Amino acid sequence: MTRRADTAAATATWDRHAARYRGQEHLEITAVDAALRVADPRPDERLVDLGTGSGLVLRRLATRLPDGPREAVGVDRSAGMLARVGALPSGWSTLTADARAVPLPDGWADVVTCSYVLHLLDAQARAAVLAEARRLLAPRAASRLVVVTVWSGRALVRVTLALLARALPLGCGCLRPLDPAADVGRAGFLLTQRAHLPRNGYPSLVLAARRDVGDLIA
Ligand SMILES: C[S@@+](CC[C@H](N)C(=O)[O-])C[C@H]1O[C@@H](n2cnc3c(N)ncnc32)[C@H](O)[C@@H]1O
Repeated sequence: MTRRADTAAATATWDRHAARYRGQEHLEITAVDAALRVADPRPDERLVDLGTGSGLVLRRLATRLPDGPREAVGVDRSAGMLARVGALPSGWSTLTADARAVPLPDGWADVVTCSYVLHLLDAQARAAVLAEARRLLAPRAASRLVVVTVWSGRALVRVTLALLARALPLGCGCLRPLDPAADVGRAGFLLTQRAHLPRNGYPSLVLAARRDVGDLIA
C-alpha cells in the first residue's frame, strides 16, 4: 500500500471503532489524569492534544476549569472519533488533521499532549508526530510535551502485551507496548519526568519533556 492509502485505511479503522471507543476510556483515565497533573496547563496557556480521538484528554482537562488552559485544540484525522468528543468549553475546539502536519502556526502552543497514540505508529510516523509537536511548541523553557503510551516496567508484562497485540490485532492491537523516550530525545526534547502507572487501567508510561535548550530564544 502507498503511504496515502495506508493513512486512509488507518483513519477508516478509527472511524469504524469510534462508536465503541469511549467504552474503554475508564482504562485510560488514571494515566491521562497523571499526564495532565504533570502537564499542568495554566489559564494563560494554550494546549494542543495530538491524536485526541474521542477527546478524553480534553474532557478530563475540562474538569480542572477554571484552572485549565484558555485555548485547547484536539487534533485527529478521524472525523468519526472527533464526532464523539462532545461539547467543549468556550475557546476550545477540535481540528480534523494529521498530527504530522497540523494547520496551526509555529510556536502556537505552550503544552502539547499525545495520549495513547505513539505506540500505535511506526518509527517514521512517531518521528514526524514528535517533530510536529516540537514545531507547535513556543520556543520557551516552559513549553512542554507530555506523552502517554502503553508500557510496563516489568518485562513479563511487556512480553504478554506484545504477544496479545500480535495474536489478536483487532481486539488487542492497541496494547503493543512502547517506551518512546529515545524517539522523544531524537526529536529535540529533554526528558524531565517519567512515571509508570501499573494499576487501575492499561499498564502505561507518562513521559514529560521540554524543548531542548539549544534552540531557545535568549
Ligand atoms: C488509541 S486512540 C487515542 C485517543 C485519545 N488520545 C485517548 O487517549 O483516548 C488513537 C487516536 O490517534 C489517532 N491518530 C493516529 N495517527 C494519527 C495521525 N497521524 N494524525 C492524527 N490522528 C492520528 C487515531 O485516529 C485515533 O483517534
